[in-house]
Amino acid sequence: MRQLQRLLLIPALATLCASASAQTPGAAQQAAPPSAAAAPQPGATGGPLPGLGRVETAPPAQTGPETQSPSPAKLQSEIAPAPSTEALPPKSVAWSFTGPFGIYDRASLQRGFQIYKQVCSNCHSLSRIAFRNLGDPGGPQFSQDEVKAIAASYKIPAGPNVQGQTVDASGMPLTRAGTPADYFPPPFPNEQAARAALNGALPPDLSLIVKARDGHMNYVYSILTGFGQTPPAGETVPNGLYYNPYFPRHQIAMPPPLTDGAVTFSDGTPNNLDQEAHDIVSFLAWASEPTQDSRKQVGFVVMLYLIGLTVLLFFAYRRIWHGHHDAGAVGEGTGDKTRLSP
Ligand code: HEC
Repeated sequence: MRQLQRLLLIPALATLCASASAQTPGAAQQAAPPSAAAAPQPGATGGPLPGLGRVETAPPAQTGPETQSPSPAKLQSEIAPAPSTEALPPKSVAWSFTGPFGIYDRASLQRGFQIYKQVCSNCHSLSRIAFRNLGDPGGPQFSQDEVKAIAASYKIPAGPNVQGQTVDASGMPLTRAGTPADYFPPPFPNEQAARAALNGALPPDLSLIVKARDGHMNYVYSILTGFGQTPPAGETVPNGLYYNPYFPRHQIAMPPPLTDGAVTFSDGTPNNLDQEAHDIVSFLAWASEPTQDSRKQVGFVVMLYLIGLTVLLFFAYRRIWHGHHDAGAVGEGTGDKTRLSP
């Protein structure tokens, strides 16, 4: 029993020491944001609980350079200038499709699709959208012929042919032209291929990105328009990453995808960065909820129905209880005689 108590006591003591040593400068450095922690630091002990190993060994001051604590003055100079790398709150943008009556702007969705096709689809998949969805009401609503032409312009991985081959004479996987029933094919055959092509970064699927991120449309819009600023003094951006204050840690692996004039809209709309970002975000918002317009329409009809029903029920109530309201307490004899009498 004694031994058991001792066994329980040792980890408790160790945790206590560890939390006490968390006040030491070395540990404070470890608590810095992930980007700072990722860089090798002279004061870091490497373990998640600095000081834990010291519990039964020598006091901190004598444990060598690994756990040596810098003087408080040095600590101040090391921690104070570290700029906050928390993402800025997203810009606030007006969207046609928010609010109870807001619906998607069809022309904007069509331009957004053009941007996805010409720019984003080089890196990002859109796996939950089928070509036929582009013709659905409440979406970009391309005509059936346009949907067929769009689908046919994509190459879809094909299964084995009648000879059972899965690759052509030159060893390339077989493909076929897309049909409206197909889903958007991914730009890379697998995650490893994407990472190999993009410096190790993985571009997320965009089907649900608007729903998946805090800030929703405003966040994606801010990311797309947040490039090109000079990082403040003290913030360095490693090679292969780009400064974007709206992204966590301010460093994103995506090169700025949109600039003024990046696409030429077929409907002649000005192609500045703001317009492009607005249109692609509208398109991605639709992709994340393709049935929003009909949901709102049904909701509106349901509300009208309920209001009508409420009015009807109110008058029905008035009619049924007409003349029965002057009844006093039951049994006083002034109430509803028909109901009180047996
Ligand atoms: C050259 C390839 C490339 C292109 C083109 C590209 N992206 Fe990206 N994108 C990436 C990579 C890589 C990431 C992952 C970044 C990271 O995790 O640091 C990313 C991340 C994102 C994110 C996610 C940010 C988050 O919170 O995780 C959004 C949103 C995004 N891209 C939107 C777009 C849109 C919209 C377009 C088209 C206008 C586009 N991208 C074009 C490579 C690309």
